[in-house]
Amino acid sequence: MSLNCKDLLGLEHLDKKDLQTILNATKPFKSLFTRSVRKTPTLAGKTVVMLFYEPSTRTRNSFEIAAKRLSANVVNVVVSTSSVVKGESLIDTGKTLEAMKVDYIIIRHSLTGAPDILARNLNTSVINAGDGFHEHPTQGLLDLYTIYDKKKKIEGLKVLLVGDIVHSRVAKSNIWALTKLGAEVAVSGPPTLIPENIKDLGVKIYYDLDEAVKKVDVVNILRIQLERQQENLFPSVHEYVELYQLTKERLNKAKPGVLIMHPGPMNRGIEISSEIADSSNAVINEQVTNGIAVRMAVLYLLKKRENVSSN
Ligand code: CP
Repeated sequence: MSLNCKDLLGLEHLDKKDLQTILNATKPFKSLFTRSVRKTPTLAGKTVVMLFYEPSTRTRNSFEIAAKRLSANVVNVVVSTSSVVKGESLIDTGKTLEAMKVDYIIIRHSLTGAPDILARNLNTSVINAGDGFHEHPTQGLLDLYTIYDKKKKIEGLKVLLVGDIVHSRVAKSNIWALTKLGAEVAVSGPPTLIPENIKDLGVKIYYDLDEAVKKVDVVNILRIQLERQQENLFPSVHEYVELYQLTKERLNKAKPGVLIMHPGPMNRGIEISSEIADSSNAVINEQVTNGIAVRMAVLYLLKKRENVSSN
């Protein structure tokens, strides 16, 4: 089992078979978590570099734990104390790490396409840990796996993404993965946060969240990026809460077994009430656990394609 690519840059360019390969590879890694020794020698002797230009709690630590559970060595580049602050380019930083004979570079960057630039210029496997508003493929995969694990299928499910779709790389990766596997995807949020052309991807738009929640099997709530409030994309946080916060009252209108997801970090009391975040329908902590298994699967599946000759 392997992926026919050197890098994981996004889910747009993976096909249905690739996505199923990743889902299938994730299950045995997850079963490892119930054992007393949660480690395999799969990547013994390999080195994984974490190159994060943006803050992260979940993705960075999840990749680090995943790599260590596969017995890889992990190096964290602290960007703020690296030669990046002296003006070194992304490509030069990548080539410097490659010259140290590393096997994977996991990169998060505020610029769309930064992982792609690195991947084109290096033989080392590059994994996108979130780039700009573009994609966050391993978050999309862990969301996909969590839905599959809970609902035992993806095809035919109705999945609703709520919130800031336009700035969300998580939303983009979810949409690519879910639609390829036959789910019906809808989005809900203020018109300023939903790009009209999202319909071209086969996605339905609901501006009324109360109407949308009645129809779906899964609600994935996105973080409201409060830092964007200066851009006047919605009138006020108070109004956003009134119209789009997932509350108990709104959830009462949904199907009984509806799955509540959030990629984190959460703004409790803004896009989601604490009551819902901690409810039995919520699988937010399971998403985090599944993230490690999914990332182990991705590192494993890219292993066979890594550069063994030219590095
Ligand atoms: N979901 C997610 O990407 O979280 P972090 O920013 O904490 O990595």
